[in-house]
Amino acid sequence: MASAKGFTLWFTGLSGAGKSTLAEEISRRLNEQGVGHEILDGDVVRTNLSKGLGFSREDRDTNIRRIGFVAELLTRNDIPVITAAISPYRAVREEVRRKIGGERFVEVFVTASLDELVRRDVKGLYAKALHGEIKNFTGVSDPYEAPTKADVTVNSETETVEESADRIWNHLIDREFIRVEQAVLQG
Ligand code: ADX
Repeated sequence: MASAKGFTLWFTGLSGAGKSTLAEEISRRLNEQGVGHEILDGDVVRTNLSKGLGFSREDRDTNIRRIGFVAELLTRNDIPVITAAISPYRAVREEVRRKIGGERFVEVFVTASLDELVRRDVKGLYAKALHGEIKNFTGVSDPYEAPTKADVTVNSETETVEESADRIWNHLIDREFIRVEQAVLQG
């Protein structure tokens, strides 16, 4: 199977909601199908491309524009891109969507209740944010603007990774970004 055309699969959602986990699961499925692609994960981008940027609105927007810029270069050369950054501001997400082109852009909103994220607190950051030890923490003391027209919305509190990934995968097939070749039955 080969990728039919380039696309950007843009995950957005709060820290710990499951963006990276789903990005990895979709990446695993693409690898399984032999479809080359790249992942731009927020944490990795911030140690490389966006080193030194903080969490003010201005810095977050700069971070998202950089991710969008690289995603656009790859997408237009038919290399699928998966991004996983909080990307809390709608305006800059829409700017990236316009630049890449809506027909090649897939916005996936990964949601879960704040209570659940605080309970998971995989990185221990919510506890710190709630105690005021981290300022401007998204969802606690900084805004998150949920998408109003996400292509797919998944809920990591009520769905398994497999279920969410299946719905995203089916969306990619429906839009003909990937083509699953049926096995030919002999006899
Ligand atoms: S974004 O807002 O610019 O899209 P990005 O996804 O790159 O954010 O980085 C978010 C990660 O940085 C979080 O998962 C968390 O580990 C860490 N982080 C550190 N400080 C903050 C903060 N104030 N708000 C949100 N995430 C933070």
